[in-house]
Amino acid sequence: MASLKGKVALITGASSGIGAAVARHFASLGCYLSLTGRNEERLNGVGKDCQQWGLQADQILLQTGEMSSDADLERIVLETVERFGRLDVLVNNAGIAKLRNLERSTMEIFDITMDVNVRAVFHLTKLASPHLIKTKGTIVNVSSVVSKVPSCNTFYSMSRYMVDQLTTNTAVELAPYGVRVNSVCPGIIHTPAFERKGMKWEKVREISKRRHPLSRHGEDTEVASAIAFLASDNAASITGHHLPIDGGRHCMPGSPIDAT
Ligand SMILES: NC(=O)c1ccc[n+]([C@@H]2O[C@H](COP(=O)([O-])OP(=O)(O)OC[C@H]3O[C@@H](n4cnc5c(N)ncnc54)[C@H](OP(=O)(O)O)[C@@H]3O)[C@@H](O)[C@H]2O)c1
Repeated sequence: MASLKGKVALITGASSGIGAAVARHFASLGCYLSLTGRNEERLNGVGKDCQQWGLQADQILLQTGEMSSDADLERIVLETVERFGRLDVLVNNAGIAKLRNLERSTMEIFDITMDVNVRAVFHLTKLASPHLIKTKGTIVNVSSVVSKVPSCNTFYSMSRYMVDQLTTNTAVELAPYGVRVNSVCPGIIHTPAFERKGMKWEKVREISKRRHPLSRHGEDTEVASAIAFLASDNAASITGHHLPIDGGRHCMPGSPIDAT
């Protein structure tokens, strides 16, 4: 089992879905947490869940913030290091997927997708790196299988391809300092994101049966345990890797989900 006991992890987008599952899993491993999101009520709920795994209230820092705000990102990193005195793990998870094909897309949606899914990931990497160098820490970026296979969500796929490139390049740049950088590339994972976008989960689940060779969607807990592995010393010689967690979808591109 991965060990993260006594480490400090900053997890973005921890108020929902995959980020919340990562927070709970890291808490179960005894990792101290700095968690971000926009929805304060949901973020507080995840913080309470983490306490049930044995963390004390002062071992969990909850910060609301907007990923497209440079000032918020600077505050989030600063307050994390002020609270815990160190940073061992950065999980760049917060992201948006506004499903639009070329015809239905707008430049406003393009800009916010790039701001949240790419610019914020780069900025947090830059802000966290000096602290991660001190601890020989690690970064796990949450990308997507659609960074590798076609989808009709053009700029979402573009944003995830850029995250994988960020992973590869920063893995090489930070390797001399003992800092590892990897990404995970999930397929369809059951999270609240789909229903919040007005998609029926039953429909998405049926699509995932056809799309994934293992004939099923993934669970947020499966992504969380893979992230914990990559963040732990069990993965000490793994860097620059893009790990698919997609039931084999990357082997079988298939047809894209209908854009809505
Ligand atoms: N679910 C999938 O099938 C799937 C597949 C591949 C990759 N992914 C990636 O996995 C990550 C998590 O997805 P999910 O399905 O867990 O989605 P989710 O349930 O909608 O959670 C997204 C998280 O990101 C935060 N967030 C979004 N936009 C933000 C912004 N502008 N500023 C600050 N925080 C923001 C949300 O905060 P609030 O809710 O508090 O606003 C929430 O905590 C995303 O990067 C997504 O692209 C998901």
